[in-house]
Amino acid sequence: MRPPPLLDVRDLRRNFGSFAAVDGVTLSVQPGEVTALIGANGAGKTTFYNLISGRLRPTGGSIFYRGRDITGTPPHSITRMGIARSFQITNIFDQLRVIENVQVALVIRQGKGTRWWRRAARDEDLRLQAGELLERLGLSGLAMARAGTLSHGDKRLVELAIVLATDPQLVLLDEPTAGMTPEETHAVVDLIARLAETGPQTFFLTEHDMDVVFGLARRVFVMHRGRLLAEGSPDEIRANPEVRNAYLGEEVY
Ligand SMILES: Nc1ncnc2c1ncn2[C@@H]1O[C@H](COP(=O)(O)OP(=O)(O)O)[C@@H](O)[C@H]1O
Ligand SMILES: [Mg+2]
Repeated sequence: MRPPPLLDVRDLRRNFGSFAAVDGVTLSVQPGEVTALIGANGAGKTTFYNLISGRLRPTGGSIFYRGRDITGTPPHSITRMGIARSFQITNIFDQLRVIENVQVALVIRQGKGTRWWRRAARDEDLRLQAGELLERLGLSGLAMARAGTLSHGDKRLVELAIVLATDPQLVLLDEPTAGMTPEETHAVVDLIARLAETGPQTFFLTEHDMDVVFGLARRVFVMHRGRLLAEGSPDEIRANPEVRNAYLGEEVY
C-alpha cells in the first residue's frame, strides 16, 4: 500500500484576468519520491509553485499538505510547516562567505530574523552546524569563498544549502538547472540525487528540459498550457506521443 501523499493538489486553478495559467491541476507527491513537473516555458509551472508556496492565491481548487488543507495559507506559515522553495539567487548575500550565508539561514529558521546575522556569525554552534551541512552537500571547499565570487552553478548549489538549512520536509525547486552549463547541470542533478537518496527531504522540481529529470525523478508530471497532459515514470513519459507533440509544438529553450 502506498503511504498517504505528502502533497495532494486537487483541481488547482489560477486565472490572470480571463487567462487560466493553471487550469485544473490534480497531482500528488509521495514522501521520499523525487517528483518532477515538466513543461515548456509558459506552461504554468512557476505559477503552480507560487500557489503551493502561498505566494499566489488559487482561483479554485485545494492544496493538502500531510493531510491538512493549506489552501490560501500565507507563505511564512507554509515555510514553517516544512515546505521550502528555492530562493532566488538574489537572496544570497554576495558580500558574505558561503558558510556565513548558511549561518544566516540557520538563524532565520530559529526565528531570530536577519538583523541578528552579525551575532550569528560569531556563534560557534551555528558555525559548526553550517559546516556540517556544507559537508553533507559536498560543498566544504566553497565554505570560505565570498558568495559574490561564485559561478552561477556554485551559487545554485549554495542556494540549495540555504534551502536545506531551514530543515524542510518538502523542497520545491523551480528549474534548479536554469542557465547552467552541462557540467553545472550535472553537478546539481548529482547533488539532488544524493540528497534524495539519503533523505529526509522529498524533492519536487520543475524543468523545461525533459532530459534533465529523466535520470532523477521517479514520477513525472507533464504540464501543457496550464493543464496536466500526462503522468508516469520517466520511461512512460518518454514513450508518450502526446508529450512529444506538445514539446515539438512549443518553443523549448
Ligand atoms: N502575474 C502574472 N500576470 C499575468 N500573467 C502571468 C503572470 N504570471 C504568469 N503569467 C502567465 O502565465 C503563464 C504561465 O507562466 P509560468 O507559470 O511562469 O510558466 P512556466 O514557469 O511554466 O514557464 C504564462 O503565459 C505567463 O505569461
Ligand atoms: Mg517558470
